[in-house]
Amino acid sequence: MTSTGPGTAISAGAAAQRELPHWESAPDDRPAAIREIKAALRARIEASGRSVAEVFGVIEARVRARAEEVAGDKARGGTVWPVIDYADIEAGTVPAEDLAKLRRRGCLVVRGHFGHEQALAWDQEILDYVERNRFFDTYRGPADDFFGSVGSRPEIYPIYWSPPQMQARQSDRMARVQAFLNAQWISESGGVQWFDPARDSLYPDRIRRRPEGANSGGLGPHLDPGTLDLWMTQAYQRAFRHLFDGTVEQYNPWDAAHRTAGPQYDGTTMCSAFRTFQGWTALSDMAHDQGVLHTVPIPEAMGYLMLRPLLDDVADDDMCGVTVNQVFPASASWHPLLLEALSGIPDVKAGDSVWWHCDMIHSVAPVTDQRGWGNVMYIPAAPWCPRNERYAASVREAFLTGSSPADFPPEHYERSWPDRFGVDQLNQTGRSGLGLS
Ligand SMILES: [Fe+2]
Repeated sequence: MTSTGPGTAISAGAAAQRELPHWESAPDDRPAAIREIKAALRARIEASGRSVAEVFGVIEARVRARAEEVAGDKARGGTVWPVIDYADIEAGTVPAEDLAKLRRRGCLVVRGHFGHEQALAWDQEILDYVERNRFFDTYRGPADDFFGSVGSRPEIYPIYWSPPQMQARQSDRMARVQAFLNAQWISESGGVQWFDPARDSLYPDRIRRRPEGANSGGLGPHLDPGTLDLWMTQAYQRAFRHLFDGTVEQYNPWDAAHRTAGPQYDGTTMCSAFRTFQGWTALSDMAHDQGVLHTVPIPEAMGYLMLRPLLDDVADDDMCGVTVNQVFPASASWHPLLLEALSGIPDVKAGDSVWWHCDMIHSVAPVTDQRGWGNVMYIPAAPWCPRNERYAASVREAFLTGSSPADFPPEHYERSWPDRFGVDQLNQTGRSGLGLS
């Protein structure tokens, strides 16, 4: 007998689930906790009558088939990333094959999400906003980088409350795309609504402005939904139940069950919000070979990442390099099959937006002497749910005082800036996203 999903009565799967040890905050003795959870997860898989290697093999075969499709697309010179016109999302006329590709690849470029002129005007407006407020004179260096040189111009601006950012966050166009993306998930099951696909929580994030001529080392492949908590908290153990209870075939990366209320381990890299998709909106035109975002466009790869540490060739106190307070790495030594599929975005124009499933491996390619600017505002899809409602309370406070939001270093540049976006400029989407009405 196996668990068939939320709401199932007593079953072997559910019984085994109750027996898993769990840590609702990061364990003090990490190696001991890793040994304990790995033994328990292996035992649970084996209690279903299948071996760990067999279960991993099922996911590996699924991922390999996807990776071969990606390799085939690349060999034919095709676009790996799905591309959908904003106009089709607005009109509800997205072709079925594009929808299928979005679900298969888990990432998306929305063409013309905002008008080109609008996006370029926003870019200029952000620059005017920071210059007017003497940001470059007062910039104290990257708060989360010990080697940052004081007074240098940043690429990531710790700016959250400029009028363009808030106008984009509360715009109808943003709400429409977020609702479209949220609808790719199963938001309701077993009598529980895990999140509200029609209401976003306006997760405030920063701006990147990478200038022409920049050299950048890029960012290695990693993922952001969590670290050891993905195996160790009860909520995540339930979210990933099918990987561990012998029903691996039912693992669905689009199932939001048990993902939207549980805790997350503290850390400088944490995101308190549940995001269906991470995303950004382009504020400059960017060519595909100028240090852009890449993903492993295979949502099921998460199952591979979760099961890989349980195989025999990984030390008992090692989760393939995952620890707390650092991003979850994907590596050539443990995950070569996944990294083969790494695929960059196509050329984008200012006003296009880029989205990737929250569990997806992503990286930023290095660039030397960059052609053109590389400017984006980070705006994800973070639908209303218990977790995001909790975080929204601190977001509201940060918005009203111009502070840096709680997930970010406490730099608070905008507190004294008189022309930041004001409460009287909120529309209904803005008010509802901040939990004000
Ligand atoms: Fe990331």
